[in-house]
Amino acid sequence: ASDSGVLQPSEENKLAIVEAAAMLREGGTVAFPTETVYGLGADARNTAAVEAVFAAKGRPSDNPLIVHIADPSALDELVTEVHPTAAVLMDAYWPGPLTVVLPVREGVLSSCVTAGLDTVGVRMPDHPVALALISAAGCPVAAPSANRSGRPSPTLASHVMEDLAGYIGGVLDGGAAGVGLESTVVQVQPDGKVAVLRPGGITLEQLAAVVGAEAIAAEPVVVKEFGASAAAEAPVATAPKERHGAEAVSASLAPRAPGMKYTHYAPRGWLGVVSGSSPQRVADEAASLLQAAQLNGEVTGLLLFEEHKPLYPADPAACVLSLGSLSSPEEGARSLYAALRRFDEAGATYILAEACPYTGLGVAIMNRLMKAAGGSVIDAG
Ligand code: TXA
Ligand code: MG
Repeated sequence: ASDSGVLQPSEENKLAIVEAAAMLREGGTVAFPTETVYGLGADARNTAAVEAVFAAKGRPSDNPLIVHIADPSALDELVTEVHPTAAVLMDAYWPGPLTVVLPVREGVLSSCVTAGLDTVGVRMPDHPVALALISAAGCPVAAPSANRSGRPSPTLASHVMEDLAGYIGGVLDGGAAGVGLESTVVQVQPDGKVAVLRPGGITLEQLAAVVGAEAIAAEPVVVKEFGASAAAEAPVATAPKERHGAEAVSASLAPRAPGMKYTHYAPRGWLGVVSGSSPQRVADEAASLLQAAQLNGEVTGLLLFEEHKPLYPADPAACVLSLGSLSSPEEGARSLYAALRRFDEAGATYILAEACPYTGLGVAIMNRLMKAAGGSVIDAG
């Protein structure tokens, strides 16, 4: 690695990938770009290496890691069986932002990867650097998102360094992550239906397009999560920052992806999601709450959609960030985590975010926003 720890892969510099692959083979940890977010990789067969990943992230050991492969044929070695429906999904969306949870084969992966479960989540990322790295390493690569546990996932190499410099072997810089949110995690249930354990880059509509809407389990986790958060916080509560601790557990949820029970992706300030029957109501409510917070001495932040800007008074918050147009949720997905980090840089202590509709990528955006907000929803009526 260079002095900065940032390895620059380019056409002329395949060396960085070769060097990173060697680090993985030797039991080191290396962060690398994927199409979703940056991952922190380790040889998934090597317990010491996997433990180093948990340690660098400060991640609870009961939260299993996703195993990344560069070729679907690598799956046979890792799992004992592939349900035909899972095969159809992998055919359709690999390489891509889809993680499939399958019964793990004994004796290949470190049991730290699976957190002792009898299943493993596997995905083949759609990113040339990730694929080249995994191929060159010649091993299955366990990789959670390369952030400190509880911080927004990294969509740039600089985010990785912000969180993990000094704790990892290095990071391959592949520029900005294209999708910006993590993969969709699915598991085919015994009844043959597809359970969505975590919404992500592959939408429910995309899943339904290949397996049929009737094959999607009736109660996706995301619905439970949103329902569980109905109790809104007092709107101008002073920042209950300790709620955002990495290990804070929301007891009301019974998620099947173990990671979903932790408060994630949190900015350092207090965050609330504002929803309502019309954009103008949302804007009015948010503007008045922000004004009150500002008078209270809070450093305010507002996360909105571009077309709603005219609905607000001038300078509604000290830091106003846009997720782009509501009509292109890809843009919102791509910029969400960087925006949460920007609020931190701005020192924001009281942040409001506009809700978006639960369709397409909006499901994953709302899932992450709700987690970042620790379930604080403000109903503007
Ligand atoms: O897009 C992504 O998936 C990124 C990139 C780096 O590939 N990775 C990622 O990993 O988001 P991580 O560790 O931050 O999230 C993995 C999620 C967690 O919610 C975890 O609980 C769930 O997948 N998961 C992993 N293995 C599982 C299993 N065997 N059963 C159920 N859930 C599992
Ligand atoms: Mg993560």
